[in-house]
Amino acid sequence: MPIPHQQIPTPLQKLVSPVFAQAGIEVWIKRDDLNHPLIQGNKWHKLKLNLEQAKQQGAQELISFGGAYSNHIAALAAAGKAYGFATRGFIRGDELAHNNQAWSATLKTAAENGMMFEFLSRSEYRLRHNPSWLSDLQQSYPNGFILPEGGSNPLAVAGFESLINELNQQLDFSHLLCAVGTGGSLAGMAKFARADQQVWGIASLKQADYLIPQIKDWIAEDKQNWHLWTEFHGGGYGKTTDEIINKTNEFETQFNVLLDPIYTAKLVYGFYQLLSNGCFKRGSRVVLYHSGGLQGREG
Ligand SMILES: Cc1ncc(COP(=O)(O)O)c(C=O)c1O
Repeated sequence: MPIPHQQIPTPLQKLVSPVFAQAGIEVWIKRDDLNHPLIQGNKWHKLKLNLEQAKQQGAQELISFGGAYSNHIAALAAAGKAYGFATRGFIRGDELAHNNQAWSATLKTAAENGMMFEFLSRSEYRLRHNPSWLSDLQQSYPNGFILPEGGSNPLAVAGFESLINELNQQLDFSHLLCAVGTGGSLAGMAKFARADQQVWGIASLKQADYLIPQIKDWIAEDKQNWHLWTEFHGGGYGKTTDEIINKTNEFETQFNVLLDPIYTAKLVYGFYQLLSNGCFKRGSRVVLYHSGGLQGREG
């Protein structure tokens, strides 16, 4: 399904550095941040099959959930606009309801792309996974297609098959590293990567081990080719440290690639930590997956 302004395949950019040469590894970055200005990176892979399903079902509105800085919400609004769906975002934080001065750049952009918002208190927002609350919501919006927070569901996971095929045509990689929020992208990449290719997720939130059973469920087969690293979150979701900020600045200057502070900055930081801990054998061919989210830099 083509989308206006979309660049596919995205470039696989080699990162050349004496540090990598010394460790005897080669490193690339998969520039999926370039695939679309707003439906960037992993968002496109997670949404594409869901959009097809929504069309087939005759849905008229895409509905989902997120915080004020959710890249998924921004991407959903842009996708709705591009494909002729209305969009509705259930946003955490009822204090934002009558205060659009306080909206993040993400919410403002989503609103410009036509998204309607329903602001929920923190306690109401907790119901977003509750089956009976969701079924009432579906009844209230019979023409709506409901996507979970972060857009991760089995169709989202299936959407990574084409990414892995594209990447395998570009390079016979040994390791693929991605940032993790819900784990849907990690599950999709691990599901479609070969058994001899390692897919490593770097969690951007604290105590992310709870994601592991869900990731296994999404993969839905016994694959041993993945790992979730949970120690590089820098204090938790949306938080950071001077060490992460310094590494981000160094990486951006050295390679001329911008990162987002919430996900890909921690991916890059985690990668360098793993490298200095000797986790890559000589001869490894490592790909860092740039999942986009760059509109999040605007706050
Ligand atoms: C830029 C970026 N990278 C990575 C992720 C994490 O993806 P997932 O929720 O599939 O783990 C997100 C969240 O959707 C994101 O916006």
